[in-house]
Amino acid sequence: MAVQTVASSTSGSTVDLGPAAALSCRECGHRVPLGPVFACDKCFGPLEIAYDFSAYDTEELRKKIEAGPANIWRYAPLLPVPADVADKPNLNPGWTKLVKADNLAGELGVTGGLYVKDDSGNPTHSFKDRVVAQALEAARAFGFTTLSCSSTGNLAGAVGAAAARAGFRSCVFIPHDLEQGKVVMAAIYGGDLVGIEGNYDDVNRFCSELIGDPAGEGWGFVNVNLRPYYAEGSKTLAYEVCEQLGWRLPDQIVVPIASGSQLTKVDKGLQELIKLGLVEDKPYKIFGAQAEGCSPVSTAFKAGHDVVRPQKPNTIAKSLAIGNPADGPYVLDIARRTGGAVEDVTDEQVVDAIKLLARTEGIFAETAGGVTVGVTRKLIESGALDPTKTTVVLNTGDGLKTLDAVAGTGLTATIRPTLDSFREAGLV
Ligand SMILES: Cc1ncc(COP(=O)(O)O)c(C=O)c1O
Ligand SMILES: [Zn+2]
Repeated sequence: MAVQTVASSTSGSTVDLGPAAALSCRECGHRVPLGPVFACDKCFGPLEIAYDFSAYDTEELRKKIEAGPANIWRYAPLLPVPADVADKPNLNPGWTKLVKADNLAGELGVTGGLYVKDDSGNPTHSFKDRVVAQALEAARAFGFTTLSCSSTGNLAGAVGAAAARAGFRSCVFIPHDLEQGKVVMAAIYGGDLVGIEGNYDDVNRFCSELIGDPAGEGWGFVNVNLRPYYAEGSKTLAYEVCEQLGWRLPDQIVVPIASGSQLTKVDKGLQELIKLGLVEDKPYKIFGAQAEGCSPVSTAFKAGHDVVRPQKPNTIAKSLAIGNPADGPYVLDIARRTGGAVEDVTDEQVVDAIKLLARTEGIFAETAGGVTVGVTRKLIESGALDPTKTTVVLNTGDGLKTLDAVAGTGLTATIRPTLDSFREAGLV
């Protein structure tokens, strides 16, 4: 398997990011050398990683993956990371459980096999550890020593933890009014955490300004100037789902949407597995999930529009509260191309779905997971999602970080420590 060493555009030094060959514009295809850049200098389109996988033999690659570590680095030959990535200080996320959710399937009437990919099992309890692990390797390659991000909560925690482990400074930015669980999780690792008076879109705008200012010089913003590398981490969700299904594509997969990056990279990951011959080439459908109070992509999908009109978010699903999603138009393309859909649910349905998943499968999801399960239920009821097909639902975060959403869930009874008192409580 060939590993390429490529010259970075900015530093002039040589960086080793494994099979990553260049950055390529998603709009016009223009290629530039690997570097901490995210927009095409010809058309301002988003840049993504272009690989050279041409030397790979399918069966050799499959064996190498299967013999790899029980984390995302088993897929290192398909990621923009050096071959010795597993030896570097990183949180080593991934290889989370794919839970066969038979009880939930029974409640929802799914007969074709229903699975929950439970990414709350990552080091900081959300899928964001996957993307940060990639960005960290890029930051190392480009010589950054401070990690930063704009975050709806989970990313801030993932950056703080990864920076602590790797010996980087971190300074991350969040809307000032996030859930306590997310704030503590982001602060506990000892980096700087800055609350901004505004919503996520204001935070993101601020970070874009900071990048161009001397104050942000030398900083690696994982989801801004390192975005092409960061985004590749979401492919590992698709790889794991297929490998855990016995190297099979699911028929249908339901993915939550904030910026839309995760959904687009789940599709890219599935496409790569098909091209590499690691899974059979057959159709699959990708469905996107949003909360009604922040549903710019589902609104555009339902209206048949190609353009996503920004919204002002107002939902308990704060991790998905991005009113102006960068990858929105690409999500629309993917949902339409694969025959999927984008749907949204109310906050009340989010809470019901969190409880449904907990009650049926013993998985306590954060509000984003409630959005995804709630949308799955709605899509089954509307007939958009076929209950006779193999379906995978992503739970991307942990319910312990969004306890307020299920406030009121608590003691069944309070009793004196006597059997009489227990009997009086009416539980037997
Ligand atoms: C728990 C959780 N799920 C899903 C997402 C969606 O991520 P993306 O911005 O890639 O659409 C986020 C983003 O913050 C998140 O925190
Ligand atoms: Zn371009």
